[in-house]
Amino acid sequence: MTEVITEERQDELIFPATLPVLPLKDTVVFPESVTPLAIGQERSIKLVEDVVSGERLLALVTVKEEAEEPGWDDLYRIGTAAVIHKMIKVPDGTLRILVQGLRRIGLDRPAQDDPYLIGEFVEMPDELEESREVEALTRNVQNLFARVIGLVPYLPEELQIAAANVEDPSALCNLVASTLRLKTVEKQTLLELMDVEARLREVSSILNRELEVFELGSKIQSQVQEEMEKGQREFFLRQQLKAIQEELGEGDADQAEINELRTRFAEMDLPEEVQKSVDRELSRLEKIPSAAAEHGVIRTYLDWLVSLPWNKTSDDNLDLQHARQVLDEDHFDLEKVKERILEHLAVSKLKNDLSGPILCFVGPPGVGKTSLGQSIARALGRKFARLSVGGVRDEAEIRGHRRTYIGAMPGTIIRTLRDAESMNPVLLIDEIDKMGTDFRGDPASAMLEVLDPEQNKHFRDHYLDLPFDLSKVLFICTANTLDTIPSPLLDRMDVIQLSGYTEDEKFGIAKRYLAPKQLEAHGLTREQIAISDKALRLIIREYTREAGVRNLERRLADVLRKAARQIAEGKTRAKTMRVDERRLRSWLGPRRFEGEVRKRTSDPGVATGLAFTAVGGDVLFFEATAYPGKGRLTITGQLGDVMQESAQAALSWVRAHAQQLGLDPDWFRDHDVHLHVPAGAVPKDGPSAGITMATAIASLVRGEPVSEDVGMTGEITLTGQVLPIGGIREKALAAQRAGLKRVILPRDNEPDLAELPTETKRELEFVLVDSIDEVFAAAFDGRPSARSKPVPVKEKQAAQPSLKVARSRSQGSVSPPLA
Ligand SMILES: Nc1ncnc2c1ncn2[C@@H]1O[C@H](COP(=O)(O)OP(=O)(O)OP(=O)(O)O)[C@@H](O)[C@H]1O
Ligand SMILES: [Mg+2]
Repeated sequence: MTEVITEERQDELIFPATLPVLPLKDTVVFPESVTPLAIGQERSIKLVEDVVSGERLLALVTVKEEAEEPGWDDLYRIGTAAVIHKMIKVPDGTLRILVQGLRRIGLDRPAQDDPYLIGEFVEMPDELEESREVEALTRNVQNLFARVIGLVPYLPEELQIAAANVEDPSALCNLVASTLRLKTVEKQTLLELMDVEARLREVSSILNRELEVFELGSKIQSQVQEEMEKGQREFFLRQQLKAIQEELGEGDADQAEINELRTRFAEMDLPEEVQKSVDRELSRLEKIPSAAAEHGVIRTYLDWLVSLPWNKTSDDNLDLQHARQVLDEDHFDLEKVKERILEHLAVSKLKNDLSGPILCFVGPPGVGKTSLGQSIARALGRKFARLSVGGVRDEAEIRGHRRTYIGAMPGTIIRTLRDAESMNPVLLIDEIDKMGTDFRGDPASAMLEVLDPEQNKHFRDHYLDLPFDLSKVLFICTANTLDTIPSPLLDRMDVIQLSGYTEDEKFGIAKRYLAPKQLEAHGLTREQIAISDKALRLIIREYTREAGVRNLERRLADVLRKAARQIAEGKTRAKTMRVDERRLRSWLGPRRFEGEVRKRTSDPGVATGLAFTAVGGDVLFFEATAYPGKGRLTITGQLGDVMQESAQAALSWVRAHAQQLGLDPDWFRDHDVHLHVPAGAVPKDGPSAGITMATAIASLVRGEPVSEDVGMTGEITLTGQVLPIGGIREKALAAQRAGLKRVILPRDNEPDLAELPTETKRELEFVLVDSIDEVFAAAFDGRPSARSKPVPVKEKQAAQPSLKVARSRSQGSVSPPLA
C-alpha cells in the first residue's frame, strides 16, 4: 500500500486545487513533517478510504473549537496540503494513517459538504528576503533547538542531526513547531505566519521560553532530589545507629538515661507529693524529643530533685558533756555564751526536738559567731552549712525563680541544703541584719517563712514548687547589730550577745587557739617557732585595733608566713626560731595605731567620745572650731537627727552658763561654731555624745585642750544633767584599746561597771558624774573653771536672748548641708 510521493507527484499539485478536507483536532500538521493520525469518525473514514484509492492528496485543516461534525465555520482558513503515505485498518473499525505535509494552503471557497467537506484551495507561499538577520536568526534557532533537545526527555537525540542539516529557515521553523509540544493555537499561529523572519522570531522566543521552563524544572528537580537524599541518608544513619545500640544492648540512649533517673528516684523514698510530681515529669520527658528545649528544662528540674537530700538525716549527739567539751576545744572563755548554748541544747534534749526559737549571735566582727555555729554542728554531729544573706534584696534569691523563667534555679536555701546533703544540718544564716528590701520583693518575709517553725515544715521554693521540710534544720543567725533586724524576725530569735574582747582575752585566744591554728595552716610546729608573750601583746596593742580577733589572726599569719620563708630558705640556724619584739617590729613594719588620742586632742576644741557601733566600741573625736559670726551652729560628719539635737542642746547649755564656767559671755555674740566629727563615712546617731560635744565647745571657748587621757560618754539635758546611756562594756573596751586612762560616765550607769572585765576595771579610772560641770571638772585636768552648781535654768534662760542656732537639716538655713 505504501507509495512514495516523488517530487514530481508533489508538483502535480496545481493550484487552485480542489481537495477533500480532513478536520484535525488538537493538532496541526506542518509542511515537510510526517505525522501519524488516528481516524475514528465515519465521515473521515470514508474520506480517507476515497483519498487512498485515488490521488492520495488531501487538505489537513485544524478545528478552531471542539465540534461533533465540524462545518466550515469551525475550521481555520489555513491548513496544509498533504499526502497519505500509509493506511492501517485497526480491528475496531478505525484507521491509522501516516501523512506527510506538502504545502501551506488557504481555503479559497468551499465546494461541497457531503459526504465530506471538499474545498478549493490556493497555495500560500513563504515571504522570504534573504538577509544577515535571517541567517543569524536561523542559527540562533538551531542552537536553541539543540539545547532544548538536550534537556527535553521526549525529543530523540537524532533530531539534533536532522535540525543541524535543515538549512532552509522555513523548513527549520516547521521542524521545530511540529516536534515541540506546543498548544494548538500556538502551532496554528506559527503555520499562518507567512513572513519567515517573523516566524523565526516567534520560534526562537518559544524556544527560549521552553528552555527557561525546562531549566527551572530541572533545577527544582535536582533540589528536590538532593533534599530527599539527605533525608534518606539521615534516616538510614539513624537506623544504623539504633541497630548498633541494640546490638550493644544499650537500647535508646535517652530512654536509658530516663530509666536511670527513675531508679535513682525509686531508691530515695520520696514524700508522696514529690513522687507524684517526679512520675509526671518523667513521663513527660519520655514523650518530648531530646532535641526540644523543653526536654532540657524538665531534665534540669529532675536533676535538682534527685540531688536534694529528701529523706537523709544524720543522728544527733545530744550528750551535753560532749557538747561542752567541743565548745571548749574550739573557743576560749566565752563562758556565758557557752552556758546559753548548752541550756538551749538541754531544753531541746528534754523536748526531744531541736526546733523552737532560733539562736541568734549578735556582736562585733571577729568575735567568733560563725565559728561558734561550726562548733555547735560539730558537737551535735550534724553537717554544717552556711549562707550569707547580707546585701540580699531580692526575694527570689531566697526562694528561687519560677520554672518558666529561662535559667531559673532554686533559691539559696534549697541550694545550701543540697550542698549540705542532709535534711537536718546546722544552717548558719550570716548577716541577717544586712538584708535589704526593694521593689523585687521583701526577702525578710521569705526568711520569716524559713525560720518560723510553724511554717517551715512546708517551705515552698518557687522553682521546685513542692513542699520541702525545713523543720529539722537547726537555724542559727548571726548579726552585728539588732537594730536593723526586722522585728517579726527578731521575735522568733533567742538572742545571744557576744561582746568584744579585752586585751587579756585576745592574748589568751591568740596563744591557745589562733597561734596553734595558724602554725598548722603554715606547716610549722611548736618546736620550730616560738612567739614571745611580749611580741604577741605587741601585735594586739600596736598592730590591731578591733573588738574581735580577726585582724589579730591575720597579723599572726603575716608573722608566720615570714618565719616559714626564713625556715624554708634555711636562713636560721637555731633549732627554734624565736620571734621577739625586735624581730616582730622588723617584720610587721611601723606600728599602725599609736598615740592617736594624744595627737588629736593636743589642740583646744577637741574632745574624745566613746561610741558603740556595729563593729563594736570605738573612740570618736568631736572637733569644734569658731569663726566670726553671730552664735550660729553648723554640724557636719553624717550625724543623725538625735545627735544634731543633742549638739544644739550642748551649745545652748554652754552658752547659757558661760559666765559660771569662766567663759567670756560675749564670745558667742561674735562667733559661729562649727562642730565636726571625722570619719564622715560612718553614720553616727544617738544622744550619748552630748557631754562630749559640750566639752569640745567649752574647750574651744576656753582655749584649753582637753586632757589627752580622758574619754567620755553621756547624754546632756538642757538643765545640764547627765543621763545614762548604753553599750558601756563595748565603750570601755574601746577606751582601753585606745590607751585612755580615765572614762567619764553618767552616774546612773554605775551598775554596768560590775559587768566589766576585771582587767578593764584595773586599767581604767571611771569618773561618775551627775552634771555637766562635773564633766568639765574631770576633762580639764581636774582644774575646773567653774565649781558652782548651775543656776536654775528657767531664770537664766529667760534672761538670755534666745540663741539663733541654725538647724542644718530640718530648717535648711545658713548651715551647709550635711555630708
Ligand atoms: N573565743 C574564741 N576562741 C577561739 N577562737 C576565736 C574566738 N573568738 C573568735 N575566734 C576566732 O576568730 C576568727 C574569727 O571569728 P568568726 O569568723 O567566727 O567571727 P564572726 O563573729 O563570725 O565575725 P563576722 O561578724 O565578721 O562574721 C575565727 O578564726 C575564730 O575561730
Ligand atoms: Mg561570721
